[in-house]
Amino acid sequence: MEILFLKFIFIILLLLFFAGLSCETDIFTSSTNLSDGRTLVSSDESFELGFFSSGSSAKSRYLGIWYKNIPIQTVVWVANRCDPINDTSGVLMINSTGNLVLLSQSRGVVWASNSKIEAQNPVVQLLDSGNLVLKDSIAGKSEILLWQSFDYPADTLLPEMKLGWDLRTGLNRQLSAWKSPDDPCPGDLIYGVLPYNNPDTVLWKGSQRYYRSGPWNGIGMSGLPQLRPNPWFTVNLVSNEEEVYYIFHLNKKSAITRLIVNQTTSRGERYLWNEYTRTWTVSNHFPWDDCDIYGTCGAYGSCVITALPPCQCLRDFKPKSQEESSVDWHQGCVRNKPLDCHTGDGFIKVGGLKLPDTAHSWVNKSMNLKECRAKCLENCSCMAYTTLNIKESSGCAIWFDDLIDLKLVQSSGQDLYVRVAASDSDHEETKGKTKMMAGLIIVAVILVVTGVFVITYYIRRSHRNIEGRENGCSDERQIEDMELPLFEVALISNATNNFSSNNKLGEGGFGPVYKGTLPDGKEIAVKRLSRSSGQGIVEFKNEVALIAKLQHRNLVKLLGCCIQGEEKMLIYEYMPNKSLDCFIFDRTRRNLLDWPKRFHIICGIARGLVYLHQDSRLRIIHRDLKVSNVLLDSEMNPKISDFGMARAFGGEQFEGNTKRVVGTYGYMAPEYAIDGKFSVKSDVFSFGILLLEIISGKKNKGFYHLNDNLNIIGHAWRLWKEGNASELIDSFVQESCTLSEILRCIHISLLCVQQHPEDRPTMSSVVLMLGGETALVKPKEPGFLFDKKSLETNSSASKPESSSTNELSHSVLEPR
Ligand SMILES: *[C@@H]1O[C@H](CO)[C@@H](O)[C@H](O)[C@H]1NC(C)=O
Ligand SMILES: *[C@@H]1O[C@H](CO)[C@@H](O)[C@H](O)[C@H]1NC(C)=O
Ligand SMILES: *[C@@H]1O[C@H](CO)[C@@H](O)[C@H](O)[C@H]1NC(C)=O
Ligand SMILES: *[C@@H]1O[C@H](CO)[C@@H](O)[C@H](O)[C@H]1NC(C)=O
Ligand SMILES: *[C@@H]1O[C@H](CO)[C@@H](O)[C@H](O)[C@H]1NC(C)=O
Ligand SMILES: *[C@@H]1O[C@H](CO)[C@@H](O)[C@H](O)[C@H]1NC(C)=O
Repeated sequence: MEILFLKFIFIILLLLFFAGLSCETDIFTSSTNLSDGRTLVSSDESFELGFFSSGSSAKSRYLGIWYKNIPIQTVVWVANRCDPINDTSGVLMINSTGNLVLLSQSRGVVWASNSKIEAQNPVVQLLDSGNLVLKDSIAGKSEILLWQSFDYPADTLLPEMKLGWDLRTGLNRQLSAWKSPDDPCPGDLIYGVLPYNNPDTVLWKGSQRYYRSGPWNGIGMSGLPQLRPNPWFTVNLVSNEEEVYYIFHLNKKSAITRLIVNQTTSRGERYLWNEYTRTWTVSNHFPWDDCDIYGTCGAYGSCVITALPPCQCLRDFKPKSQEESSVDWHQGCVRNKPLDCHTGDGFIKVGGLKLPDTAHSWVNKSMNLKECRAKCLENCSCMAYTTLNIKESSGCAIWFDDLIDLKLVQSSGQDLYVRVAASDSDHEETKGKTKMMAGLIIVAVILVVTGVFVITYYIRRSHRNIEGRENGCSDERQIEDMELPLFEVALISNATNNFSSNNKLGEGGFGPVYKGTLPDGKEIAVKRLSRSSGQGIVEFKNEVALIAKLQHRNLVKLLGCCIQGEEKMLIYEYMPNKSLDCFIFDRTRRNLLDWPKRFHIICGIARGLVYLHQDSRLRIIHRDLKVSNVLLDSEMNPKISDFGMARAFGGEQFEGNTKRVVGTYGYMAPEYAIDGKFSVKSDVFSFGILLLEIISGKKNKGFYHLNDNLNIIGHAWRLWKEGNASELIDSFVQESCTLSEILRCIHISLLCVQQHPEDRPTMSSVVLMLGGETALVKPKEPGFLFDKKSLETNSSASKPESSSTNELSHSVLEPR
């Protein structure tokens, strides 16, 4: 009896438990429904299905799916796109024939899934991918998919979602933009796949073809160089007898990315979620520039964005309309000499192209290029051929009819062999051979000349290193001799919107820094030497000479430079998260840096310094290490930047001396600030200060504590001696920190800021200490316990002067 009662209680509890679970569920069946106000959440909580209001009209209710884990509401799918419900009476349910229907009180059925198959035991589930599925799950049998939201996209393509055709059923999945940011009803911008023999993706504006990505070449779309291999996602275009679709997969599970079509901007946009800034950023868009507009240059015209006029006829072609003054480019170009199919034609090779429209084309996956050429010559209407898959160098793609919509996309474009009259072609046997010989000779000459230059350069350079590099002397010729890529002024000017003030990121050590975007989509930071800066030229050359030789994941990467007359610029990789001081000294952003992240940053800076001090080809002392010179990439990895004041040494030299003390007050070691002596140990001192700032979230400069005039070092030293070091910790990191780890860091920082350089550890032992691999000795009294005022009165004899001492002109901003 009692046992029965207990069993009863147990069953009740079990039922309650399941009822409780069903509040936050990813499933419902025909006996339940989803009313306005309730939601369905995918099992990993990344997506949520429910009712939402769009824009200003809170009255219009839509059924949709959005990201659950993103604070900015981002809707990825809408059911009743053009048919909002006026009130909150909306209910989503499964009707008796197993269809998913959206009902409103006044209107009845507002939207239905219209699945054709009748279901016996229909179940609705929101999957972790954001796909809403309706399936029939009959006990003992496998589930049958009846309908899925991924087959009826709105404006968003999510990972694993197919864009394009199921040729067996005729289903065509396309994206269509919201009419306006408030109205999910489709506008006239549509993105889809053309199921040609050689498939292409196209953006339509109304019925007009507006943009083409170019066909798939095994790696990417030939016209979309921005779509390079990246850490976040991989794209693919699958084409077989049954399906033709475009898809992308995540490389990293945590990455959040989506592709949308945007009516407001008339383009397709790829967004990436940045977890640290908590914003969406556009990582790519199409059309990319005016040359991407479909058919801009007509047949056989290639659009070159940097040229004037941008339309250029292919080699051996001339404009069709011949009025000199204004060529009508839409008419395109014609051959200089007409073809003669029967006596024989040849081909010219055109490099770096977005391949032409594939409406009339033919492919064979197993032919090689030679067979392809023969195949093309066979048919008089074949106008061009090329390799189908450049990744495997295989396959054959052939074009019939005139070639339309060509664009020059140097970095990732493809070679195309265009049919011309035999006398114009560059593939005649003998001509080919002589050309090849000439080519070989030219290559050999270039190799010898570069070799000589490189050798002279190294000889001169090693001389200079031994002499010491106090003046940072290296002339432009030497800069140009380096393997460093040189950029054209026009390209950089274009990339930065002509150095527009909107693109300005701030002021660096020797001039303004701009953000730019190269034609291939890569984001860059451009440090431009201001013409008025006299000291700047020395620092500029110094920075180029040093950093061009350095490669480490904790140093900012120099992509190239640009020297043309007066204009001197350095081009760096762009750092989306700016510099460390933008986080640790910012009232709100400091929350984003919990202790594990701060510790990760500390270790990165330390490793970067070890590389500079001992592992790189040169021995380098940075001399201006501070929080604003530590940049953060999109994953918050630290990168040391600004080598304008750095010094390099030859093999056994460890220490230098200078009359011109440069660096930033508050970070300078005493022996350097006072006597101008610098060594790796003066960088260690600066690292110690940096460590204290990262731990405490307070600036050394302008550190005030009640009545004493101690600076951050003095303060830390006093708390340490009193056994209260934990009071130093930034209140924002306290929750996330491991106290022992952080106390260890305070201990290390005090070792780094000791008065005498010989007492301070080297950076490589700092790295070991941070890893907890060595015991820590007791720190001796630090240098500079007091703030700047007391220092100035102590040593008024040597007033450090430099561009960097001036915190106004050399404040926060650096290439990022
Ligand atoms: C939805 O379900 C609730 C309870 O589960 C029920 O009261 C309501 O009548 C249902 N609505 C419709 C339209 O079937
Ligand atoms: C919304 O309300 C208007 C009247 O206020 C009505 O004419 C219309 O049919 C309603 N639409 C829906 C979807 O309920
Ligand atoms: C269920 O909904 C579908 C789609 O609206 C409709 O064709 C079908 O008749 C409905 N079934 C019933 C029993 O109402
Ligand atoms: C479309 O672009 C505009 C302007 O950049 C932007 O404000 C809007 O959020 C974009 N739309 C979507 C759906 O992202
Ligand atoms: C493709 O080329 C291969 C090799 O030349 C040939 O065997 C095959 O039949 C071709 N396929 C088609 C569909 O033409
Ligand atoms: C050339 O190719 C076109 C397009 O595929 C085809 O219609 C035509 O019959 C071919 N001509 C010859 C001679 O093979």
